[in-house]
Amino acid sequence: MKYLSVSEVSKKWNISERRVRSLLVEGRIKGAIKVSKSWLIPENASKPSDARNTYQFDEVEAEETANVDFKTYLKRYPNEKGYFGKYGGAYLPKELEKAFQEIYDAYLTICKSSDFISDLRRIRKYYQGRPTPIYYCRRLSESLGKVQIYLKREDLNYTGSHKPNHTMGEGLLAKYLGKKKLIAETGAGSHGTAVATAAAYYGLECDIYMGETDIKKQAPNVARMKILGAHVIPVKEGAGTLKEAVDAAFSAYLKEYKTALYCIGSAVGPHPFPLMIRDFQSIIGIEAREQFLEMTGELPDVVVACVGGGSNSIGMFAPFLADPVKIIGVEPMGKGTAVGQNAASVTFGKEGIMHGFNSLMLQDENGNPAPVYSVASGLDYPAVGPEHAFLHDLNRVTYDSVTDDEAIDAFFKLCRLEGIIPALESAHAVAYAIKLAKKMHHGSILVNLSGRGDKDLDYVIANYGEKYGIK
Ligand SMILES: Cc1ncc(COP(=O)(O)O)c(C=O)c1O
Repeated sequence: MKYLSVSEVSKKWNISERRVRSLLVEGRIKGAIKVSKSWLIPENASKPSDARNTYQFDEVEAEETANVDFKTYLKRYPNEKGYFGKYGGAYLPKELEKAFQEIYDAYLTICKSSDFISDLRRIRKYYQGRPTPIYYCRRLSESLGKVQIYLKREDLNYTGSHKPNHTMGEGLLAKYLGKKKLIAETGAGSHGTAVATAAAYYGLECDIYMGETDIKKQAPNVARMKILGAHVIPVKEGAGTLKEAVDAAFSAYLKEYKTALYCIGSAVGPHPFPLMIRDFQSIIGIEAREQFLEMTGELPDVVVACVGGGSNSIGMFAPFLADPVKIIGVEPMGKGTAVGQNAASVTFGKEGIMHGFNSLMLQDENGNPAPVYSVASGLDYPAVGPEHAFLHDLNRVTYDSVTDDEAIDAFFKLCRLEGIIPALESAHAVAYAIKLAKKMHHGSILVNLSGRGDKDLDYVIANYGEKYGIK
């Protein structure tokens, strides 16, 4: 029998190669066989009836990205020194090297034990309320055309964002290590609230460092942290946003590392944090993948998430890396492309070291972290987690951006068409899905809705209320 390649079948059936691969993985092309990494498809195989035409993404297909086998990728990256290719690592003052080594050793031993895993599973199910559902946005999808938009509802995770997925893990690790306090930085207050919650749950003290600008902007989360018993320590330096909060939390941890654990709030920081955060957050993608298959019988065509430091996105993306699924990280383009007007670290960043890790960073002409801005406090960080920089270089994940105005527009669209109020961070991912849906003819987009927007209501009404008819 004569066999055809994926690209020959794609031309013959007039559908994208991605779609052909997706049908192959779903086992819907009769007689197809896989030899090494390539598919052989019988010349007489018939086209499944819903093998629809999809939007042609114009960049490299996953197969051509690099010599990385994504089936074994998660076991191989990062390496034992915390490197994803050239990104990552641990650039630390001498005193802290031992503390981070202790965290890594503990993580690789205690945290892989069945006791730790069953404790975490119990907490996720009975305390956080997982699994969070996926939800089909009928009215939003219909308003855009024929593309189907789905949300992974991390806004329904306890405390209203994805952050407890890692803070409950970090807190449990602190408990096993015999620490007395959790130290953290926060931007939007979602991570701070999740750390304060973990501290209360495990009976630990809690210090949260937060920039003064963010304290004003995210008042409801500040109140929640205080009510939960955390000390919220205002950071006056610089722009009073996330970067300065990380600087302050790092300095505090340097003094208290023997008795405290620094709960880094994203997939950033020195090794082993990018690894641990990915592992803890991967529950998002593991659940979403299973739920999507169960709901629709196939994988989504596109997966989208917003990228600040990169925790919700890496959690969503990691379980899809080996699949024939297009993956897109959305960065904040803020008010424009000029330095200081956005926080699009992958789009405009250069390789550099900050906060103990090597990655893509927005830098000024002297190589110092550039000023950053986004309407979403949780996205205005001048760097990105090292794994995102790596996945970008590998061409496995595409990074694109949306502006403040596009995010605000998506915020109101989701509120008014679906009755769901998203966090401004998450609204960036929704905005991108809306733009993409208008370009694709058919297909499905799964968006990670990383959090709910209660924290943003006062800010949105004060700044955009009139424009959207709120008197
Ligand atoms: C709801 C929400 N989504 C996303 C983010 C961005 O962080 P990350 O990129 O680590 O997911 C934040 C940060 O505070 C957030 O609060």
